[in-house]
Parts: sequence; structure tokens; C-alpha cells
Amino acid sequence: MSRTGDVVIVGAGVIGLAIAFELIERGASVRVIDRGEPAGAASWAAAGMLAPYTERVRHAALVRFCAASLQEYPGFIARVAAASGVDAHLRLDGVVHAAFDGAELESLLRHAQTLAAERVDCEILERSSLLASEPWLGAFVVGGLRIAGEGCIDNRRLGRALLAACAARGARVERSSIVRLECDRRRALGVHTERGFVAAGAIVNACGAWAGRVDGVPAHCAPPVAPIKGQMIALAAPIGLVRRPTWVPGAYLVPRDDGRLLIGATVESAGFDERITAAGVHELLHAALAAAPALRDFAITESWAGLRPGTPDGLPFLGRTPLEGLLLATGHYRNGILMAPATARSIADAVEGRDTGALEAFTLARIGTEEAFGRRITHA
Ligand code: GLY
Repeated sequence: MSRTGDVVIVGAGVIGLAIAFELIERGASVRVIDRGEPAGAASWAAAGMLAPYTERVRHAALVRFCAASLQEYPGFIARVAAASGVDAHLRLDGVVHAAFDGAELESLLRHAQTLAAERVDCEILERSSLLASEPWLGAFVVGGLRIAGEGCIDNRRLGRALLAACAARGARVERSSIVRLECDRRRALGVHTERGFVAAGAIVNACGAWAGRVDGVPAHCAPPVAPIKGQMIALAAPIGLVRRPTWVPGAYLVPRDDGRLLIGATVESAGFDERITAAGVHELLHAALAAAPALRDFAITESWAGLRPGTPDGLPFLGRTPLEGLLLATGHYRNGILMAPATARSIADAVEGRDTGALEAFTLARIGTEEAFGRRITHA
């Protein structure tokens, strides 16, 4: 597809940077252009959970894609670390779910049965062994579930690592207040920036929640993504107190190696509003303190919000559009950090013109565009 000109990636989040890194390692000439801070927005705001089974992803094609990406993570991160010298703190030693009454435990048991039938390694935890491994949980916890092989990555470090890796391998990552695509009736031609026009052999729209609003994109190629806000807070907790990412009713808690304990996240259709609200912080603290009163005296050190790119059917938009030379890599909703390696690999394959059968379920054609803009965006 990209026989002449650079591959231009519009959007310098983790998805755009991962694609850039993959392509440049394959020998392509790559530029990444963003209006905002590279590795900012949702990439910075995320919790970095790598947990498709915890998230209860159900669509078969998406389950396969997420599982492949999870499997690719260690190799992908090793390549990024070799290029960048930055350790993104990948941990895949399991995710814990805690139940506080019989109904919640019953739900975890059913989930464990479903996962076992799909050959996902998991175990139901008795109250005593759950408290032995996560002693900060409240005394009224009744049991839990541990899903092996899932985990988390420090998404902010990952952003820095990808930026450094792209720079080390020679990809240009630029900020521009002007980002406007130039297309004719048949194909995408390039991108206007504040420094002039950049001709492109291929353009990848990786603008996350903003992907449907990129200037110059014809309506029939604009993906119907909508922002789904997630608010988060961080507490200063003793390092090692919370050992594994843990889901409790109404919230998840993710420990960072620097002592921050992340608590997330709200799920709100609030347009492009990124304010931290009293109700959002209350929702998170209410859930976390109900599960673990021991956290109540820790200081709140940070609060922030990000916008997930939601889609009408919960599936991402990946691969070709009706316009030659224009590809999509957006709509990852709650799992953008998780899907970065598989997205990078498969979009690089598509740019190189290889078989993209694996992306069939994620085409723009499955939904249509303009008429879908008015529909409710899935965020269940
Ligand atoms: N992946 C968790 C979230 O989006 O809140």
C-alpha cells in the first residue's frame, strides 16, 4: 500500500506510537503527527490493565485479538526496551477479584467456570488465601478469583518508552496545531501540518476518541467513535501493600512500583468533558473504601480523567477504509493499552498489503458511518 512516501500516523498515543515503532522496525519511513502532547490523552490517563478475561470481553473475534495481544506483550516490550532503554514495568502475575457476599462469589464462580471451559488459567480463592495474598482487603471479604497471566503495565512509562524507541529508530514524532488530511475521490494523499504538506503513501488514523473528527476525512471514512470518560484517583500507599491489580465491586485498584495506588474508573458519556467531578471521586472512594477500609488514611495524591474511544458495538475499528491509503486504528474503548501490540502488528501488515483477514470483524464497513453517529455508543 505504501510504495511511495512516508507512512503518516495521525495520533501519537500508545496505539499510534506502537504502530510507528512496528513499522519502522520493519524498515518503513514513518512520521507521527498529533495536535497534543505525544503519549498524552487516554494513553496517559489509563490504568494499564492487561486483562481481557477480567474485563469479560465476549465477542469471539475480540477475545482472540485481545488474547493474542496479551501473549505478544513480553516480546513487544522487550523490543521496545531494547530500542529505548526504558523499562515499562510489565507485570503478568495475575489479576485478583474479591467478592463480599454470596451473590458476588457466585458470579465469580460462574465466571471461573466459563474461563476454565475456554482453557484460561484461573483459580477460586478461599477467603483465607485471598486475605493471605491481599491482606489490605476488608475483613468481610468472602472469597475471590485469581486469573493467571493477566496483569498490568505502567502506561505512562510505556508511552515514554515508545517515544524513545521511535526516536532511537528514526521515526519523527511531531506536534502540529494543524492536522488536516488531503484526499481525492480515490485515495488519501497526505497531511497538512503547521510546517507544510506531508505526502503519504499511507495514513493511519489513530486519534482515539477524536478519530471521527479529524479534519479532511471524508464522511464515509470517519469512524463513529465517541468519548467515554473515565475518572481516576491515586493514593499514596506503602509499596507492596497491594500486590496485584484487584477488582472489587464498583472499582479496580492497580499498584504502581512508585507507591501510587490507582483507583479507577468511572464510565461516563459526558462528551469531551475531562473535568474531575465530586461525584466521580465519590464513586471511586465509596467503592474502594467499602472493600478496603484500611485505605482510608492514605493521602489522595492525584486525580485525572481520560476519554476512551467507544464504538457502537464495542469493537475497535482496525484496518482499511473505503479510501485507498487510509487506515483506521481506533475504537479500542477500555482495552487500548492491552491491544497495542496486536494492533501494531496487524496494522503494519495492512500497510504492507499483507492478508488482513484477522481484521475482518473490525472493519468500518460492518457498521457504516454517518448514520451510526447518532446511535448510542456501547459502554456496558
Ligand atoms: N481498562 C479499564 C478502563 O478503561 O477503565
